[in-house]
Amino acid sequence: MKLCMIGTGYVGLVSGVCFSDLGNDVICVDKDLDKIQLLQNGKVPIYEPGLSELVIKNYKNKRLKFSNDLKKSVIESDIIFICVGTPTKKGSSSADLSQVYNVAKEISKSINKYKIIVTKSTVPLTTGDEIEKILQKKNKKNKFSVVSNPEFLREGEAIRDFTYPDRIVIGSNDKRSSKLMKSLYNPLISKGAQFLLTQRRAAELIKYASNSFLATKITFINEIANLCEQTGINVEDISIGIGLDKRIGGRFLRAGPAYGGSCFPKDTKAIVSTAEKFKINLSLVKSVIKSNKDRSKLLLNRINKILNKKIRNKKITFLGVTFKANTDDMRDSSSLVMIPFLSKKGALIKYYDPTGSKKELEKIKNVSYVDSIKKAVESSDLVILHTEWNDFKSINFKSLSKRKKFIIYDMRNIYSPNKIKNQGFKYFSIGR
Ligand SMILES: NC(=O)c1ccc[n+]([C@@H]2O[C@H](COP(=O)([O-])OP(=O)(O)OC[C@H]3O[C@@H](n4cnc5c(N)ncnc54)[C@H](O)[C@@H]3O)[C@@H](O)[C@H]2O)c1
Repeated sequence: MKLCMIGTGYVGLVSGVCFSDLGNDVICVDKDLDKIQLLQNGKVPIYEPGLSELVIKNYKNKRLKFSNDLKKSVIESDIIFICVGTPTKKGSSSADLSQVYNVAKEISKSINKYKIIVTKSTVPLTTGDEIEKILQKKNKKNKFSVVSNPEFLREGEAIRDFTYPDRIVIGSNDKRSSKLMKSLYNPLISKGAQFLLTQRRAAELIKYASNSFLATKITFINEIANLCEQTGINVEDISIGIGLDKRIGGRFLRAGPAYGGSCFPKDTKAIVSTAEKFKINLSLVKSVIKSNKDRSKLLLNRINKILNKKIRNKKITFLGVTFKANTDDMRDSSSLVMIPFLSKKGALIKYYDPTGSKKELEKIKNVSYVDSIKKAVESSDLVILHTEWNDFKSINFKSLSKRKKFIIYDMRNIYSPNKIKNQGFKYFSIGR
């Protein structure tokens, strides 16, 4: 099939490349000309394991193209995926849908034959209805269908998640588009992916409900970790003990810093805001949002205690600053709350991240990037393990820092407390 992905970011690029790898002709469109030029030169603008190889392979065999000509790309395609950003609106908690509606307006000018317009962007329920209205202004009803196909891939595991999804959700209000969408995904369905066909609004809500539930699970175990810390219990035992119950399941039960990233923070806020429009109070999700906000403050208080309330002039190292491992994405990472706070309190901060320095941290006083773990930790007073990269899992701190014994605050519980203590370092972790 001929596909067009509008928005060549984490979702549009990964799903576009994977669709082309399944044998479809795909044009990835972006308004960011630098991004398109990079991709046309075989360079991938984001860090995602395995993506570069797939881009080069499918670009070479001409099933994958990159363009900034939205009009031409839409005319040439049968199915158009909207994959642009839906961040939180400034000064509000609802989703800013301006990018989605702008793209819908552009598409509406280029419908030359029947096309399916699919929202892969995470959009609040009723957005599909609005897109339909925009398209109807310039086109007859039988010339298009608007479908919701929420994306569940995780950054860092995106190719695997796209290729072997737990489920594929299609929200469609007509048979013609349902059938075509199912046949598009048939190669994945035949490999065992569950296919769920729903009304369009239901598919839109499934995405937000999923993310809110996962955010709730993380927040729940983070609160339980606080109780463990006060009572000498190891939260890891609790995670295993409750996770073994099949009704609960063990995933997303790892205590750590506040959840961040490009999805959970904005999607939990947006679902609350959407529900309010329908006069429904999602009190549980509201308290998850509050608890998560409080979490960074709580961990900062803990840092203050660990340093005996003397943060000024302390050398603090962050190992990893992204919201999770295997991505370069900094959106809403808890490090963006913690680092500026510590800098304001007079700390001297160094950080190392396997994906390099971050523009988000460039302008913060006394914050510098170093390009190796050794340089990051050697003269430090406190080393904070913030992101769970494999690169950090087997560091021999003793050999890296022969002269100085710093304190280690392991926010991901990746080290054995006894091993670290035996090397002569003071060690703190989460909920144990
Ligand atoms: N990142 C994830 O892990 C993830 C997972 C599932 C769902 N989502 C959802 O997918 C959507 C996209 O997220 P993302 O992380 O890929 O965003 P992103 O910011 O990485 O990419 C969006 C891209 O859209 C482009 N764009 C904006 N307006 C455009 C226009 N008019 N024409 C052409 N291109 C345009 C931008 O230049 C950008 O490259 C969001 O709604 C997000 O919630 C993201």
